Amino acid sequence: MSGAARPVEGEPYLAVEDLTVRFPTADGLVQAVTDLSYSVELGKTLGIVGESGSGKSVSSMAVLGLHDRRSAQITGSIKVAGTEVVGLSESKLRDLRGNAVAMIFQDALAALHPFYKIGKQLVEAYLVHHPQATKREARARAVEMLDRVGIPQPDRRVDQYPHQFSGGMRQRAMIAMGLINDPSLLIADEPTTALDVTVQAQILDLLQDLQREFNSAVVLITHDLGVVAEVADDVLVMYGGRAVEYGTCKQVLTRPEMPYTWGLLSSVPDIGADTGARMIPIPGNPPSLLAPPTGCAFHPRCAHKDKVPGDLCSTTLPELLPGSEGERHVKRCHLADPDAIFAAEVLPEIAPDLVEEPR
Ligand SMILES: Nc1ncnc2c1ncn2[C@@H]1O[C@H](COP(=O)(O)OP(=O)(O)OP(=O)(O)O)[C@@H](O)[C@H]1O
Ligand code: SF4
Ligand SMILES: [Mg+2]
Repeated sequence: MSGAARPVEGEPYLAVEDLTVRFPTADGLVQAVTDLSYSVELGKTLGIVGESGSGKSVSSMAVLGLHDRRSAQITGSIKVAGTEVVGLSESKLRDLRGNAVAMIFQDALAALHPFYKIGKQLVEAYLVHHPQATKREARARAVEMLDRVGIPQPDRRVDQYPHQFSGGMRQRAMIAMGLINDPSLLIADEPTTALDVTVQAQILDLLQDLQREFNSAVVLITHDLGVVAEVADDVLVMYGGRAVEYGTCKQVLTRPEMPYTWGLLSSVPDIGADTGARMIPIPGNPPSLLAPPTGCAFHPRCAHKDKVPGDLCSTTLPELLPGSEGERHVKRCHLADPDAIFAAEVLPEIAPDLVEEPR
């Protein structure tokens, strides 16, 4: 592991606390991310899930200091290896980016420059953080990285342009670029969305292998709880710019306590595909972040709000409180006994084979 930022012993490599991101626009203030806290240790993967517009990308871009200061209002704290990123100067941010922290984007075509050969782009990414290296060394490193991400004939491919690569290969090239400086923190924003299922699985395997090798901390952003179940240690569920459930994969995926997480689980297409489970999309649309609903942002779509007394769900924002699965598991919901409802109403729908027959 190299990278400018050194981990602080006993502290997570990435620690986000009370992060809030607002965009003033002509239509009003976009409340993109509100009071978001999470942490990731070296060698661990955090999956961030949520529907489109829930604040996944905006929060992750803040970690790299990628928001334009003139248009984004950012408060709270983001510490990478103990260094505060919020308010950090552009030159220090540049040093952090691509060195200690790298990001892989959803769309490789947008991230790779179409007019430059893949190798040139990799070489430049390396030389920015290794000014003492020669061009020859940088090119050798580029070929090595293309080889590591499984690109055949890397010494020939290094001289090709992005359009000469297939979609899966471009994604691999972008991963190579993200990893060329051995970042300690890798943020992968929907890295496989545009790819077919087989290539998707290969890329996820590759990310896991590389993570094990580099012992990096990984944040994987995805719509897909199935992907999270496969690769993540922890999972953070976002809704309307806030965390609504957070814990280990085991806690959140086997004993979820927030109806939105139940909805996400129900809408995973292949969970128990041959067990009689049904895929049930969450009805309704994600909330507007210009004028979010009062109370619990999920209340207009929640099928369980009538189990909460009075109009609490529509008037009062639930706090993020410990769930029954231990302190690291937190959820934002007013339901008094979510476990009983999950066992009686949700589990039979999404995984009938897991429901015990009465004796
Ligand atoms: N620069 C900006 N100015 C104004 N609003 C913005 C800006 N960037 C993002 N937003 C808004 O912030 C909200 C959160 O966006 P974000 O891109 O984080 O969603 P996401 O969870 O990553 O969604 P997706 O799954 O579609 O990628 C959205 O409502 C988006 O329109
Ligand atoms: S607080 Fe109410 S509306 Fe929100 S998820 Fe819980 S039950 Fe549903
Ligand atoms: Mg996004």
